[in-house]
Amino acid sequence: MKHRMLGALNVSAIGLGCMGMSQSYGPHDDAESMATIRRALDLGVTLLDTSDMYGYGNGHNEELIGRAIAGRRDDAVIATKFGIKGWTGDGSFVLDSSPEYARKACEASLRRIGVDVIDLYFLHRRDRSIPIEEIVGGMAVLVAEGKVRHIGLSEVSEETLRRAHATHPIAALESEYSLFERYVEGGVLPACRELGIGLMAFSPLGRGVLTGTVRDLNSLSEDDYRHSDPRYRGENLLHNLGLVDRIQLIAAKLGMTPAQVALAWVLAQDEHIVPIPGTKRIKYLEENAAAAEVELTPEQIRLLETAIPPNAVSGERYPEGIMRTVDA
Ligand SMILES: NC(=O)c1ccc[n+]([C@@H]2O[C@H](COP(=O)([O-])OP(=O)(O)OC[C@H]3O[C@@H](n4cnc5c(N)ncnc54)[C@H](OP(=O)(O)O)[C@@H]3O)[C@@H](O)[C@H]2O)c1
Repeated sequence: MKHRMLGALNVSAIGLGCMGMSQSYGPHDDAESMATIRRALDLGVTLLDTSDMYGYGNGHNEELIGRAIAGRRDDAVIATKFGIKGWTGDGSFVLDSSPEYARKACEASLRRIGVDVIDLYFLHRRDRSIPIEEIVGGMAVLVAEGKVRHIGLSEVSEETLRRAHATHPIAALESEYSLFERYVEGGVLPACRELGIGLMAFSPLGRGVLTGTVRDLNSLSEDDYRHSDPRYRGENLLHNLGLVDRIQLIAAKLGMTPAQVALAWVLAQDEHIVPIPGTKRIKYLEENAAAAEVELTPEQIRLLETAIPPNAVSGERYPEGIMRTVDA
């Protein structure tokens, strides 16, 4: 497995998103999820992404990772997050980025995962009522105390990123980036390059749609998050599947799967971008990890970007309530 740098942190070129092992994408089985995490470590996929809220706030995902890496702590780079305390009645998040809450959340995450230190600790969503300098100051204290090695921010604006980095070195930004979602190219990605901050690209498979395996909402379980995803709704889905068809054709010609092509495209954008495709299945994990070996030619990249130009996708990337929590 190739490696990349997120700030000063060395990680596998492709990580493993663990959210779906506890929520969002249909039924999950702990034994299968743990086997997938262990297979990831066998393949040299070191970077495991979780959050204290995965499992709808019950800590399930962090505990699962703790059990899966038991006895193999040194093979894993653990990225977890704090700052989302729960849900409001209107489909948004209750946020708390205060230093007091950061300490409490960090200590709880350490206990659940069963480790002494978190390798990369993210602010999941910024609570805009608190200056970013105060928030990062609180996270920096956790670094000084040895509870956290590196700091990251998720879904923040360019301005917030710059102010944060001036307070304490930020190793990584975690934001959505894929052939389906390119908003980071506008400001935050150039800022990451300038400041030496890595980008952990979440939902690099467009929440599954780019793989071509989800073509109909009826095939998803009732509690699947994608029923509320604007990009999976009605006319939007039909339009977006037309774009996926183009990727499927290109992938077939290249002898790859659509997921591999989608991940190879993300990897080709910058040497400090690490996609973290989410899966609970060994089969998908192996397929995705193999994409780290692919080096697309400029002509292949051009073909893909012609197939899905920026802003070609229909629908906002989040339902309205969650969109409000994105720092802009
Ligand atoms: N910071 C944030 O706010 C934030 C937000 C969203 C996500 N994340 C992180 O980013 C990770 C990845 O994002 P994501 O899980 O939302 O979306 P994603 O990686 O774009 O897509 C995940 C979906 O794709 C399916 N899949 C994965 N590999 C596949 C393959 N090779 N062939 C066919 N289907 C495949 C998965 O199926 P199965 O479920 O059946 O395995 C799952 O349904 C998450 O796990 C989470 O750790 C962070």
